Amino acid sequence: MSRIYIFTGKGGVGKSSVAAAHAYKSAKEGKKTLLVSTDMAHNLGDLFEHKLGKEAEEVLPNLSLYEIDPEYVMQNDFAYIVDYIGRLLSDAGGMSISDLGMIPGMEELFSLLKIADIYKEETYERIIVDCAPTGETLSLLKFPELLSWYMEKLFPIGKIGVRLLAPVSKAVFKVEMPNKTAMNDIEKIYLKLAELQELLKDRDVSSIRIVTTPEKMVVEETKRNYMYMNLYDFNVDGLYINRILPADIGNEFFDRWIVLQREYIDTLKECFSALPICEIPWYDEEVRGEAAIRRIADNVLADKEVFGKRIIKDRESFTQNEKGYQLEVFAPCADKADIDLYQASTDIVIKIGNFKRNIPLPNSLRSYNVTSAKLEDGRLRIQFEQEK
Ligand SMILES: Nc1ncnc2c1ncn2[C@@H]1O[C@H](COP(=O)(O)OP(=O)(O)OP(=O)(O)O)[C@@H](O)[C@H]1O
Ligand SMILES: [Mg+2]
Repeated sequence: MSRIYIFTGKGGVGKSSVAAAHAYKSAKEGKKTLLVSTDMAHNLGDLFEHKLGKEAEEVLPNLSLYEIDPEYVMQNDFAYIVDYIGRLLSDAGGMSISDLGMIPGMEELFSLLKIADIYKEETYERIIVDCAPTGETLSLLKFPELLSWYMEKLFPIGKIGVRLLAPVSKAVFKVEMPNKTAMNDIEKIYLKLAELQELLKDRDVSSIRIVTTPEKMVVEETKRNYMYMNLYDFNVDGLYINRILPADIGNEFFDRWIVLQREYIDTLKECFSALPICEIPWYDEEVRGEAAIRRIADNVLADKEVFGKRIIKDRESFTQNEKGYQLEVFAPCADKADIDLYQASTDIVIKIGNFKRNIPLPNSLRSYNVTSAKLEDGRLRIQFEQEK
């Protein structure tokens, strides 16, 4: 069975370089490997000094590169979805398919759908994904929520409302409601996205690796990224700290930077203690060309098991205790002040900052109420007790 390794992180931290080194190592191990980039500002071709076309291309034995062009993929592979959306947009009134690019996350979304299709074809044993910077990728974690966001933007009263209100909508709301075919289309897209999300969350299939550098702003974003990934229960199973200055430069200016870096490396190690951490030195040249990529692969990855399945302890569990049940959610780096919690009829809703997650409650807990919640050791523990 093939596996997907997704490299994410803030802009410029070294995602492409680290992903390329993994792809290189993987190919050398004799595994058929695809290194694919979803970032619109592609640079795999530059990195490997090879001009790439619109399809995947083998550049070294066992190693193919693929810079996804979302526009091209939309037209060639997902014409039917584009067609659905086109119909939806015109139903919503006044919008056309050319407005699609304005919807946040759309390009990345089609790129990921394409990767899911490649995965299903089983051509490659390892698919290594070089992502766009965090900001854009994060929004994709919220697929279902994202879709409802689109729904609200396009059809202000939402799906259920549409179904019920369609016959009277024109008169009452003075807007054209999407027709039944369009609603079926929405459902099909929704299912496709749900399937993609399943694939990306499946621990047997996908690993998410975060790349970072030891500097304040990056560390902060890395922590947030990790927290949200865990909130949505994605399988983050590795951290890479890139651009670490060598300790023996012997220069006062750099000595200060080395001390600062040490501090941030310690913070990262604390926060990411659940994960294997890989440290990568700051080299005296850019990572460009096969020799530079091989350098990372040989220096840093050679003696590490970077492709094996890693079991990171359970991130979410319901356990019975003397008072009732406890739900434990892994929420590393979260700040108590940012957490909000509420109980809907069948879900518990956890909100951290701008992100919200609905965790469905098992049937047996529906008659229970949340009686306390604690954040300890990066774990949110929520106590449920039976209604008296
Ligand atoms: N360990 C390193 N030593 C020296 N230079 C590095 C190192 N890692 C990355 N670089 C250089 O830093 C720059 C950014 O790296 P890279 O393109 O891999 O980052 P990225 O996270 O993919 O960036 P983007 O967000 O723009 O896609 C490149 O010029 C690369 O050659
Ligand atoms: Mg990049």
